[in-house]
Amino acid sequence: MLVLGIESSAHTFGVGIVERGRILANEKSMYKITDKGLVPSKVAETHIANAADVISRALSKAGLKIGDIEGIGYTKGPGMGPCLQVGEITAKAIANRLGCNIAQVNHGAAHIAITKAMTKMQDPLVLYVSGGNSQILRLAGSTYKVLGETFDMGVGNMIDSFAREIGLNPAWGSTVAKYAQQGRYIKLPYTVKGMDFAFTGLLTSAIKLKGGAKVEDLCYSIQETAFAMLCEATERALLLTGSDELCVCGGVAQSTRLQEMLGIMAKSHGARFGCAANEFNADNGAMIAYVAERMLVKGLGTPLAKCTIEQRYRIDRAVVV
Ligand code: FE2
Repeated sequence: MLVLGIESSAHTFGVGIVERGRILANEKSMYKITDKGLVPSKVAETHIANAADVISRALSKAGLKIGDIEGIGYTKGPGMGPCLQVGEITAKAIANRLGCNIAQVNHGAAHIAITKAMTKMQDPLVLYVSGGNSQILRLAGSTYKVLGETFDMGVGNMIDSFAREIGLNPAWGSTVAKYAQQGRYIKLPYTVKGMDFAFTGLLTSAIKLKGGAKVEDLCYSIQETAFAMLCEATERALLLTGSDELCVCGGVAQSTRLQEMLGIMAKSHGARFGCAANEFNADNGAMIAYVAERMLVKGLGTPLAKCTIEQRYRIDRAVVV
């Protein structure tokens, strides 16, 4: 089945095209982050302006015309309301014109699905880390069970907030990672409770040290502390579940330092570690198309009039296909 998927939950408007699980196109445009962060209405305006171009590019990359598309998928949530709406409306307009079925996809479940496909893992323990999400997950029946998660904010948003507060340039995660390479460790708050964790204390303490410590040392220490917290909680989950596969996915999974730390931890317990290429850890339309095709083939489409968005669409309510 030829399926076009639309991702628009945050700063990326992505369009992917998939046929029988094979990715034919994965195009996107990204909102340029400023020092004001992401203003949802501004990001949505940018998505609206870019939507047609990204769809055309994806179709042309796949060598298709819009009329060839047999099914549509879009991100129902979680994400920023105005941004999700752009994807929803675009998907509905195309589905309506083509008279094809439509699937509502959970963003986090799509990251995991594409990662499992790329790493060829069967039933991994999953660390899902992005701007707004930080969760440890394992499939239980047809839904993901959240074994551990952040009590306050996603690790990506924490690092972004820190970078903004100490005056670093946008593209914060990568800027912090760059400075961290020259840094030395400063002790910062470390909060892990069982398989859950919290980042606010770490963030507040690091910001308070602005001006009193080298930027490199702050970047290194906040990154090492946050990643060590994630590794400790994930290690506990790995041992409790006895899983022999561990994968990391989501925007923060692009961090080579986090990959390195998790890889060492997994190896020490005889578990295989894997992650997808950066293209699929960043937000993308291909992962939405990939899951949408699986849903539509199994008859899990939604009538057009019942398609909605849900800003807090938790992954443990999404049916995994
Ligand atoms: Fe994402």
